[in-house]
Amino acid sequence: ETTTTTYDVVIIGGGPAGYNGAIRAGQLGLKVACVDKGPTLGGTCLNVGCMPSKALLHASELYDAANHEFATLGIDVSPRLNLPQMMKQKAESVTALTKGVEFLFKKNKVDWVKGAGRIAGPGKVEVTAADGAVTTLEAKNIVIATGSEPSGLPGVAIDQKRIVDSTGALSLPEVPKSLVVIGAGIIGLELGSVWRRLGAQVTVVEFLDRISPGMDAEVAKTFQRSLTKQGMEFKLGMKVTGAAVGKKGVSLTMEPVAGGAAETLEADYVLLAIGRRPYTEGLGLESVGITPDKRGFIETDHWKTSAPGVWAIGDVTLGPMLAHKAEDEAVACIETIAGKAGHVAYGIIPSVVYTTPEVAWVGRTEEELKEAGVVYKVGKFPFTANSRAKINHETEGFVKILADAATDEVLGAHLIGPSVSEMIGEYCVAMEFRAASEDVARTCHPHPTRSEALRQAAMGVEGWTMQA
Ligand code: FAD
Ligand code: NAI
Repeated sequence: ETTTTTYDVVIIGGGPAGYNGAIRAGQLGLKVACVDKGPTLGGTCLNVGCMPSKALLHASELYDAANHEFATLGIDVSPRLNLPQMMKQKAESVTALTKGVEFLFKKNKVDWVKGAGRIAGPGKVEVTAADGAVTTLEAKNIVIATGSEPSGLPGVAIDQKRIVDSTGALSLPEVPKSLVVIGAGIIGLELGSVWRRLGAQVTVVEFLDRISPGMDAEVAKTFQRSLTKQGMEFKLGMKVTGAAVGKKGVSLTMEPVAGGAAETLEADYVLLAIGRRPYTEGLGLESVGITPDKRGFIETDHWKTSAPGVWAIGDVTLGPMLAHKAEDEAVACIETIAGKAGHVAYGIIPSVVYTTPEVAWVGRTEEELKEAGVVYKVGKFPFTANSRAKINHETEGFVKILADAATDEVLGAHLIGPSVSEMIGEYCVAMEFRAASEDVARTCHPHPTRSEALRQAAMGVEGWTMQA
């Protein structure tokens, strides 16, 4: 065992929380190491999450368009799926991205320490490399950024062959004839969409009586209608009780949550996507007296844990499990360690579902405002009334903006339609500046763009929209 120099910061985990924190620490002149047990940097997001899923969503969306939409535009083609090539371009993009993080580590003098990190008492991180070699790092500050892993379901054993989690679903060897997705959350709907577009019959089984909990209810209804029209089937209010793998596929048993007869569903493949849980296995939290909450999350106050000199950020802490939330916390935590004023605007963290149509939102939903007793005004604008959407034959969806009835401050925005992932940022900026809806309504937007719908919705709040 060897002991190395003392670091200002040792970060455990090299995902969006860990790598963004490490790079910011390097920029601020802190001596920093980032420990990760994977073969590449980037964590869940780059290796088996955001990036490979978006690669498949993009490619499968174009395939779907070539099959169903090109003819309308006067382009006749007969597309043929080349799944190995689709997987290859995904893997190449992922490698380029993880190499990019590696490059930024070098540029910002971050030491990448490969191996499993364990806190071994205050100021000590023990790293066990793949070959078993152990190194102890001394640290003035330890930052836990160990992320999350898929939640399991009793009776449904993941084998990554027939019953897969999101990681398996990103690399299926063939297009399933039938795919059953358990959980109508973000992963289920995104990856379910990928395989439906490529030709699978997709059925989504959800415990609740609605899809996408947390999404504005009106948007969720429109979203479900749209996915159903595309051929995705939904079984809501159903509880999966078991899965048996046979020669031909999987036999899934389920029963209505409200009571009633059990059912069996046969499928080629099953994707389990019922949420993710914080990952702290073998982390040595007990050595510094940290006890995670009941669900395994590490509780923090401004990214400080209950143990002096130990911080936690990203999916392993409470709040939305999103890469940009992890990134914001990383920067704020490191700036706080460096004696600056770190800040995260937790009320303005956008959410996006990268399906067709896309769904994007920020701030509060109508349901949340009603529950809080806030009096609000609604401005809504459908893409059927937007010229660019009409010209592109992409008129599905709408923009809805919610503003305080007394002050006109923007309190939330809920978008559904193509490209809304690229549009929501405007409302994030507006909310950061505590803009009134009228500020957006009076801001000149380029014509013809879908972004005019953002302005028109705000004009709707003021009562002067141009909707026919
Ligand atoms: P992680 O990215 O999970 O990184 C943690 C890292 O720590 C891992 O590399 C792990 O190997 C390492 N580690 C853990 N324990 C140890 C240890 N003891 N020693 C050494 N290393 C350790 N979010 C979005 O915002 N947009 C999206 O489009 C999106 N798409 C997603 C799609 C899928 C299929 C999935 C699964 C997730 C998606 N997410 C998305 C969520 C996003 O991936 C996470 O919110 C994000 O990765 C969290 O970052 P993190 O750094 O906290 O944790
Ligand atoms: P999720 O929390 O989004 O959805 C899980 C769904 O499963 C919910 O609808 C829930 O009601 C349902 N469910 C729970 N238990 C069930 C059961 N026993 N049977 C049937 N249904 C059940 O979780 P998901 O989709 O696994 O994603 C995990 C996280 O990953 C997300 O919360 C999100 O933070 C992140 N992610 C983000 C993406 C993005 O930003 N575009 C993309 C993919 C993942």
